[in-house]
Amino acid sequence: MSISVSAPGKVHLIGEHAVVYGVPAIIAAIENRCRVTAEEHDKIKIESDFGVNFEDDIKNVLSFADEVNALWKECNKKKNFSELFSVMRIEKTNPMKAAVGTVMRHLNLANGISLKIDSKIPAGAGLGSSSAMSVSIPFAVAELNNIEITKEEINKIAFSLEQFNHGTPSGGDNSACCYGGLIWFQKSQPKNIIRYMKKEIPYELENFLMVYTGKPKKTTGELVQQVRNLNEDFRNEKMENIKKAVYEMRDALEKKQKEKISDLMNTAQNNLTELGVSTPKINRLCEAVRNISGGAKLCGAGGGGIVLCYHEDKQLLKDIIKSEKFECWETELGAEGVREEK
Ligand code: MEV
Repeated sequence: MSISVSAPGKVHLIGEHAVVYGVPAIIAAIENRCRVTAEEHDKIKIESDFGVNFEDDIKNVLSFADEVNALWKECNKKKNFSELFSVMRIEKTNPMKAAVGTVMRHLNLANGISLKIDSKIPAGAGLGSSSAMSVSIPFAVAELNNIEITKEEINKIAFSLEQFNHGTPSGGDNSACCYGGLIWFQKSQPKNIIRYMKKEIPYELENFLMVYTGKPKKTTGELVQQVRNLNEDFRNEKMENIKKAVYEMRDALEKKQKEKISDLMNTAQNNLTELGVSTPKINRLCEAVRNISGGAKLCGAGGGGIVLCYHEDKQLLKDIIKSEKFECWETELGAEGVREEK
């Protein structure tokens, strides 16, 4: 028997980094998806299209996952995850072993499984490639083992896997990949606020283009840590600016105020630059888009990756991106969340 599931990638319209500190973010699921096919197997076998392939005994995978979970807890006490990140980097199979073992623990399983992963979400681009995988794996494993699982439960497991990659993720990325659509996400106690924005934004988001500016030198976890290491007053001031822009963005999207949408994207980008997560290449592109009165901002952790660009004249936007020697593409914003595939 074989089961296939898929989850979309995501793009932050606004609110990344600040969302880690409790500021809301507006996040859209995109049509690029990660597909996972699960089959019964006597061991844990992983095949992927990004060069992570292995076969190992179930007990090894489970005990490695237990070690990684214990290490995460230790690092969390110190609010410093460098030790965890270096363990994850020792072998390129380590993140996947930790993920699969943790999923098995959550689902109380100790049987083998084979997972084939095929992702159309570029890695390290700020498009939620790891989140889409963290959402797809528990769903695929549960489905194959006839375990009924809700989206809320999938999202909870996905969040625990994201913690290995990013230390203290906000949970926004995995929530967007799990639920799909356009969401308003806010990290909160006792429960995160996750709300579809269909009521205030019932229309299709258009005139957004994606531009890839290169592979970031640092991981999401490292960039989040870098922001955490900044002077607290300085950081809080930037977070407050982004927070104001997020609420105004919700209003501007609702009223389809195109100039305001551009301005707010630029405000977010300015603050992200001041937080040290932009690059000269991103800034050059953003400035060119700004010069034609458009909006542009990095997406996700930054340090490279995708820049989201917006202008009411899409052709003019394409021309300016091309004249700066970048390529762009369009994607549906608001794609369906995790689902079973036929
Ligand atoms: C990464 O895609 C988004 C960040 O805000 C981190 C997070 O939300 O966990 C940088």
